[in-house]
Amino acid sequence: MKKYVFAALILSAAFCAFPVFAQQSGPAVGSVGAILNHVAANNFTTGAIPRADLDTIIQAGVRSPSASNRQPWHFTVVQNQTLAKKAVSQVVDGNVLIVISAAGDGKTNTREIIDCALAAQSIYLAAQALGYGSRIYTGPIDGINRGLKSDLGLPSGHSAVALVRVGKVTARADGTSGASSRKAADTMVSYK
Ligand SMILES: Cc1cc2nc3c(=O)[nH]c(=O)nc-3n(C[C@H](O)[C@H](O)[C@H](O)COP(=O)(O)O)c2cc1C
Repeated sequence: MKKYVFAALILSAAFCAFPVFAQQSGPAVGSVGAILNHVAANNFTTGAIPRADLDTIIQAGVRSPSASNRQPWHFTVVQNQTLAKKAVSQVVDGNVLIVISAAGDGKTNTREIIDCALAAQSIYLAAQALGYGSRIYTGPIDGINRGLKSDLGLPSGHSAVALVRVGKVTARADGTSGASSRKAADTMVSYK
């Protein structure tokens, strides 16, 4: 019995010391803001990204969820400006492209495409949480798969699925003032 009382005391102390464990009440705050306020950057400017920040951004991709936890992706971090500009012509000096690839043609395995898309979204959000601009691209993917795979050194048998462009921006916009409008929630959401 003493054992259970002791355990209960430890648990309640932990909940007081780390309120993050407790069920939150009231409006959603904190980290949800980073998800609600994202914007696809279109005001990239020159400037290098320190390696430590890149590593943190990549870690967000590595930590992404995937079906059966297969983690089918590979992340190719393109810092070489000549290569980056070949992949995305709008790249300005200092931008980094993170190409997310998986085995196969990048078109037919729905599950892996979803996994790679989630990793792209994690990277996109992490970059913005660190104060950078980011934008997801699929437009250049066919071109990459046709002609740039070996220059980029994608793993053998892989095809690119998506890429995220990360870089400095002239000013940090937010989802309210800077993003394009969204359809009204009541046109696309139903509660049953
Ligand atoms: C799957 C996907 C593919 C995208 N491909 C491109 C692209 O090829 N070129 C581009 O300029 N933007 C691309 N975007 C960015 C979208 O245009 C942008 O997320 C959308 O317009 C909403 O922007 P906002 O959040 O700033 O309002 C892509 C976004 C997603 C999610």
